[in-house]
Amino acid sequence: MKFFVDTADIDEIRDLAATGLLDGVTTNPSLIAKTGRPFLDVIADVCAAVPGPVSAEVTATDVDGMVAEGKRLAEIADNVAIKVPLTWDGLKACRQLRDLGAMVNVTLCFAPAQALLAAKAGATFISPFIGRLDDLGQNGMNLIADICEIYRAYPDTIQTEVLVASIRSPLHVTEAAKLGAHVATIPPKVLRQLAQHPLTDKGLAAFLEDWRKTGQTILQEAQAAE
Ligand code: E4P
Repeated sequence: MKFFVDTADIDEIRDLAATGLLDGVTTNPSLIAKTGRPFLDVIADVCAAVPGPVSAEVTATDVDGMVAEGKRLAEIADNVAIKVPLTWDGLKACRQLRDLGAMVNVTLCFAPAQALLAAKAGATFISPFIGRLDDLGQNGMNLIADICEIYRAYPDTIQTEVLVASIRSPLHVTEAAKLGAHVATIPPKVLRQLAQHPLTDKGLAAFLEDWRKTGQTILQEAQAAE
């Protein structure tokens, strides 16, 4: 499973990219607004920090406007993925931008039929928002299961990757991975939580305490043996 981080905070992105675990980045207009910086500058910085796809969302709502904005965004760097909303105009813009050679992420997907349409429009990624469905008392993970099943039924014609979005917890990531989703876009806090377990901390503390009692250090031992 590929890991994207869902943020426009360049410091967070650089920090996480340094782990070597980051495959891409997703942003949206709300995340860009939080930075207080000019949109195009943010995307340029992020694209330079991460070699994988960086989603940048259009804000026009008509086909021509989305395509014009998408073309401008695609000029920023080769790794820009144009994000368009799952509307009829968004689907038409997706097809046109794909024909121009751009990567396209179709966002705000809440139903399997929408995901099928995005695949037919040639989307590089489909972004189903699971947390927002959970917030309504529905099971967002069922949507991921349905989309994975549908896409898997057409391996010769559907190349669209399922990019699980609106993730709220490590459990969302592992459940989506069990279903075979291609990508998870994860908020920085949740990404860090993936590495944490209280028994890991407890076990490490005990090992280090026992080691301290031996009075040894590995590098000194190695030097003495040379
Ligand atoms: C994905 O591309 C979206 O930016 C994001 O996952 C939305 O998450 P939210 O529902 O927590 O805002």
